Amino acid sequence: MLVEIIPLLILSFAAAVLSNPIKSSPRQLRDTVAHSRQAQAWNPYGYTTSRTISLRRSPHDLQHSSRALRKRATHLTASSDVEGPGLLQAGSTFLRATGASFLAEISFGSQTFLSVVDTGSSDTWIVHNDFTCVDIITNQAIPRDRCYFGPQYQPGDEFRQIPDANFNITYGDGEYLTGPVGTLPVTLADIRVSSQQVSLPNLAAWQGDGVTSGIIGLAYPALTAAYPGTNPHLDRYCRPGGQLQNCNQIVYSSLINTMFFEQKLTAPIFALALSRDESNSGNGGYLSIGGIPDLNTVGVKSPEFASTPIRILPQDDQFRYYLINIDGLVMLPAGTPIPEDSRWQAQYAENLTNMTTAEGNITSSTPAANDTSFNSTSRAFPTSEPTSYILDSGTTLSFLPSNLIYRYANMFRPPARFDPSTGFYFVDCQAQVPPLGVKIGGKVFWHKSMDLIKQYDYAGTTCILGVQDSGRLGGVNILGDTFLGNVLAVFDLGEGVVRFAGRREYSS
Ligand SMILES: *[C@@H]1O[C@H](CO)[C@@H](O)[C@H](O)[C@H]1NC(C)=O
Ligand SMILES: *[C@@H]1O[C@H](CO)[C@@H](O)[C@H](O)[C@H]1NC(C)=O
Ligand SMILES: *[C@@H]1O[C@H](CO)[C@@H](O)[C@H](O)[C@H]1NC(C)=O
Ligand SMILES: *[C@@H]1O[C@H](CO)[C@@H](O)[C@H](O)[C@H]1NC(C)=O
Ligand SMILES: *[C@@H]1O[C@H](CO)[C@@H](O)[C@H](O)[C@H]1NC(C)=O
Ligand SMILES: *[C@@H]1O[C@H](CO)[C@@H](O)[C@H](O)[C@H]1NC(C)=O
Repeated sequence: MLVEIIPLLILSFAAAVLSNPIKSSPRQLRDTVAHSRQAQAWNPYGYTTSRTISLRRSPHDLQHSSRALRKRATHLTASSDVEGPGLLQAGSTFLRATGASFLAEISFGSQTFLSVVDTGSSDTWIVHNDFTCVDIITNQAIPRDRCYFGPQYQPGDEFRQIPDANFNITYGDGEYLTGPVGTLPVTLADIRVSSQQVSLPNLAAWQGDGVTSGIIGLAYPALTAAYPGTNPHLDRYCRPGGQLQNCNQIVYSSLINTMFFEQKLTAPIFALALSRDESNSGNGGYLSIGGIPDLNTVGVKSPEFASTPIRILPQDDQFRYYLINIDGLVMLPAGTPIPEDSRWQAQYAENLTNMTTAEGNITSSTPAANDTSFNSTSRAFPTSEPTSYILDSGTTLSFLPSNLIYRYANMFRPPARFDPSTGFYFVDCQAQVPPLGVKIGGKVFWHKSMDLIKQYDYAGTTCILGVQDSGRLGGVNILGDTFLGNVLAVFDLGEGVVRFAGRREYSS
């Protein structure tokens, strides 16, 4: 899940202010550009690890109850100047309405839970058994079962509370939690950290799935959300580009940072192969820590990986998210078969201009009617940093720049239509899908058609696009589960790159 929505478009930021007191370890601040060349020689076979666990999918949110869905439909996100709970807008729609999360088993001391695997945040927390559930809009206490948590953690002797510290996080969809912080032995994918800082939220504005009890945050330490004192109202997140003298966030070592860099328990690499689980069997794919899963098992077509450096936000000085630049998006006319051969793929990518203008019926109401964004696949688009995307396993849909999603929506047959009241592009559930590829590190990764049309309502008669307008998120582009379900993504923190391999079509 996206933590705090940061407008990427704000670049007017004096470099001098960048004396942010909080630093990721020097190891993580290595020059990323050099790595992209090195990465070409990467041999995946040396990295297969047995520390691979199967993920589960949460029960489909839509099956929860129609009441839950309606409730969800009243809150969320996101105008361009959003911050914390202020981003809630009655009438806008809950992002996860049509999505399920990816879940892994994690142990805190001797208690084992299912938690959401999230590359878009950094805190690992487990809900306290004595918690207050509050309404996400009104902030008023409501019955605990309305937070839909799975089993809750009962603090035992193993939990060492850190005095004078508190946890306070707001996710991009408006959910928020606060509570004590402390250390616990934590075990994930067979790797045990004897003392890991975690949080035990005891106040939660949460829309759970009835199964999970917390989140496993796999992003960088700079995103962690601990603060001094015990009054969360005094917490001030150190926002890149924000007023750093007024912030008091206390960065701590996130779980994988502890495993990889502090205690060096394993190679600094993890991998995700998310499953779309068409058959609804609960299979969520695989998570490997310290290496990658067996390529055959996850259906990797060929061991050729594309790689791209992990980047920092333009106005920032340290890694927070898995932020990457893509070479471009490839959109083919509806009905075009997805090209199989990689040389053809590259050619298609080069022919982007012709392919899209042949189909897109752009009207004068296009957000940027005279933009030149389809001039070539690798050119910069009109807005700043529009080619930067956050890889976020905690976000169901993907979010693309406004002008691109506008054109893409028009390529569906019949075209998808933007609905201002929800902020989503809606589409006929049976529409013909224009193939969509994401070109990264010179290689095109195609979506499966079914990922691009998502069921929206309980009855399955209304659908939205699997990719939506990032303008709704303040311009933050996200490659979410819509994209990640099609690849093996290898987060190589040692080299500072993310590597991708395409996967064979699979169904469960
Ligand atoms: C969490 O921190 C924010 C500031 O970042 C603050 O406005 C908010 O009140 C805090 N949450 C709670 C529940 O106190
Ligand atoms: C790309 O464009 C070139 C030049 O117009 C053409 O020869 C080639 O066939 C096109 N490739 C594809 C895959 O359409
Ligand atoms: C697009 O089409 C025009 C003419 O139809 C051709 O001259 C041009 O080379 C094509 N561009 C690409 C990138 O293939
Ligand atoms: C594109 O625009 C033309 C002219 O306005 C119109 O006749 C045609 O139906 C449109 N096509 C689509 C797919 O919207
Ligand atoms: C687009 O066209 C309008 C009107 O001609 C012009 O004012 C504007 O500067 C143009 N924008 C770009 C990005 O070229
Ligand atoms: C492509 O973009 C460049 C730079 O903005 C511009 O000079 C050129 O005219 C554009 N070409 C086309 C075909 O739009």
